[in-house]
Amino acid sequence: MNMAGRSMVTIDDLSNGEIEGLFSLADEMSDSMGQQATLCQGKIMASLFFEPSTRTRLSFETAMNRLGGRVISAVDIGATSLAKGESVADMARVAGSYADIIVIRHPWEGAAGVVAEYAGVPVINAGDGGHEHPTQTLCDLYTVKKERKTIKGLRIALSGDLKYGRTIHSLSYALARFGATILFHPYPGLEMPEYVLRKLTTRCKGKLRRYGALGTASKEGLFPIDAVYVTPSSPHQLAMIPDISMQVELEKDVDALYVTRIQKERQKETEGKETKNGHVVVDKELLKKKKFKKTIIMHPLPRVDELAYEVDGDPRSMYFKQAARGVPVRMALLALLLGAKEIIIPDVDDYSSVRQEDYPVYRRDSGLKCSNPKCITNQESEIRYIKPAFRIVSLKPLTLHCFFCEHELYPKYIASADWHEGKTETKKYHSATSSWIRRIQPEKLIIFDSEEEAQLRGFKPSSYVTRDTAPENTDI
Ligand code: CP
Repeated sequence: MNMAGRSMVTIDDLSNGEIEGLFSLADEMSDSMGQQATLCQGKIMASLFFEPSTRTRLSFETAMNRLGGRVISAVDIGATSLAKGESVADMARVAGSYADIIVIRHPWEGAAGVVAEYAGVPVINAGDGGHEHPTQTLCDLYTVKKERKTIKGLRIALSGDLKYGRTIHSLSYALARFGATILFHPYPGLEMPEYVLRKLTTRCKGKLRRYGALGTASKEGLFPIDAVYVTPSSPHQLAMIPDISMQVELEKDVDALYVTRIQKERQKETEGKETKNGHVVVDKELLKKKKFKKTIIMHPLPRVDELAYEVDGDPRSMYFKQAARGVPVRMALLALLLGAKEIIIPDVDDYSSVRQEDYPVYRRDSGLKCSNPKCITNQESEIRYIKPAFRIVSLKPLTLHCFFCEHELYPKYIASADWHEGKTETKKYHSATSSWIRRIQPEKLIIFDSEEEAQLRGFKPSSYVTRDTAPENTDI
């Protein structure tokens, strides 16, 4: 398969088969690291890191150098014209006219998606705020496969900051798609965002089981835990046994324990106190538990105090291998997106059957804004070149996903473009919980955040504005 010209903004941008093919190519790169120096000769990679980085930036730059390409870089927003008020889109257009491929890390969620829209060359997301970090996920999955030979059916525990950990978000989607069972152990107050859980249970076809009260650390340490438990719905056996004892399940062996630091730089000022109390340190003592006997210990790094240095010499620790594998994995990705290599797609189970494109897209200018203040659509709203866009993922209750950062939005009012066109007397808006939601075709749907917004645009309230129906989850 030829992947030339494609971007990787989220982990959804590669199918399971493509990821498997990329891993085979990474093996090839790893075995012949010093013999790839002509593969991307003459190509230039723009390395734009507007947040601190050691591993991602250096491994991408090493990868491009190993492939015989060249690197141009910017590592500080303050040293670029973004500091003078230039938009991300303009920066992307310009960088895309200098380089053959762009690797970008940016603090705003959805920024990499905007760069991909405007650059005109392939774009790789090296982390966009708390949203996603898909190439870290490639390194993580590659490590799991190397150490465990498969991903399907493994039990993988994710511990730490699940709220702001972008590596956690991308990794969860991929693990669910590949058929792993995921155990979440969040630090109190840093639980997995609802929008991620919804995506795991809809697009990634996972089945969610909540266990215990989230936010209360177990007296016995990390496990048994208060957790949210995701199993792939099919064909995984566990999901087919509805009354299986969760306690028994949680006490089973864990194949991999993935630890993350608290993302202090993304926390609100009010956050932090409760997190400190539930902070679990992965150390020699914890790893003595029977269920961790064969567990591989993973961490995207950097670590702070959640993973003891005494674990480094333990053969179960994988985090420095994960970082080192970033070079062959990123060499493979660069070579594919630059068209220097092609891959054969193996015949593997593909859990990503519900792709993002399957949801109706809402792009109408009706004053609707993304609910996430860190989304690029809100950060650059004054320049007004980005038109907010949403995927309609559910009608009952009406639920939208921001196209750029994927945060959820539950708008309250709707109207139909069909009925009011040319007739002001039928220019009425209704409650989003009324039965009108089913009667309006997605392409005719007008959605408002508030009654004020609807009235500002000349709509009058219908008798269905306050008539609510019982909420029931109807995914599209
Ligand atoms: N794992 C990771 O993204 O590390 P850096 O922040 O050092 O790039």
